[in-house]
Amino acid sequence: MSRSARAAGSASPVRRATVTAPANIAFVKYWGARDLARAVPVNPSISMTLARCVSRTSVERLDGAGADEVWLAAGPAEVGAAAAAPIDPGEAFRRRVTAHLGELRRRLGVEGQRYRVTTANSFPAAAGIASSASGFAALAVAVAAVAGRQAAPEELSALARASGSGSASRSVLGGYVEWPAPGSPEDDPRAVQLAPADHWDLRDVIAVVESGAKEVSSLDGHRRAASSPHFARRLELLPERLRRVRRAIAERDVHALGETIEEEAIELHLVAMSSHPPVYYWNPGTVEVLAAVRALRASGVPAWSTMDAGANVHVLCPPEAEEAVAERLGRVAAVERLIRDGVGAGPRVEEVVE
Ligand code: DP6
Repeated sequence: MSRSARAAGSASPVRRATVTAPANIAFVKYWGARDLARAVPVNPSISMTLARCVSRTSVERLDGAGADEVWLAAGPAEVGAAAAAPIDPGEAFRRRVTAHLGELRRRLGVEGQRYRVTTANSFPAAAGIASSASGFAALAVAVAAVAGRQAAPEELSALARASGSGSASRSVLGGYVEWPAPGSPEDDPRAVQLAPADHWDLRDVIAVVESGAKEVSSLDGHRRAASSPHFARRLELLPERLRRVRRAIAERDVHALGETIEEEAIELHLVAMSSHPPVYYWNPGTVEVLAAVRALRASGVPAWSTMDAGANVHVLCPPEAEEAVAERLGRVAAVERLIRDGVGAGPRVEEVVE
């Protein structure tokens, strides 16, 4: 029987699947939820899927086991990295992963299965680089494979989002991705690809100015969003901004894209900082990097900044500007390290063991 012919819930011969799934950087941000428990957004969002910032997750079926196991793989997530003894991830992490596993099993009709999950990131977790997006996208794709389900990207998008991480719904697709807002409260909006990675080679030089965990989770940020006096105004401005971003991607217009995403990022943080209670993600290093990027532009280098829910700054630029951007940002004292990434093709099933 072909893998695609196997129905969910039927005995799947797949015992273990290993998947890498990438983080993404939002050009237009998901901020504020209609239904936070189901991660239903107020507004549409658009992102670029990254190539190097990935989570690598193995899901192995544990026959006869009563409970799931969750481990952090010691060592980097890069393909082929040497295996070392896995580490206990702690209670909070385990609870979030097992909650997602429960939801995935329910949706895939494989309630009886139990899994051993081993995961690692190639980048610092909880630092404004969407580790939950890549992690939950990888988990959804790997569990679907072990359950014997050949899922379409739209279904994977819904499965990834069942974790409560909205941005995970975009990480199951490569290239440039839009996650629409719901038409009605019951809607279950699924991400769609606007353009594949090979449509446009864009680079993302990430200036890491904080590698620890952020103080306020994105979930709390969504909860507080509507308390900002600027939230309603932002919603009024978004339709035109979304049109500009879609058009800039279609036309590969880096100037139009860059100006729009920088404006969007500042506004997102303005809303966060003016919420009740306020949410400050920036640190002094963030401001230094923003100034360095403006200086780069003043000297003729095309580069624009954006930040998700964290202090780190993603600097978007065309390939020919990447070297100059990295050189300049490398001289900013507050920058702990640079991650040089770019647009990527989406999740990869690396290994399937029957
Ligand atoms: C600012 O609720 O998806 O990054 O699960 O922590 O990734 P995580 O957060 P989520 O909110 C994302 C908020 C954002 C904007 C975005 O990625 O769209």
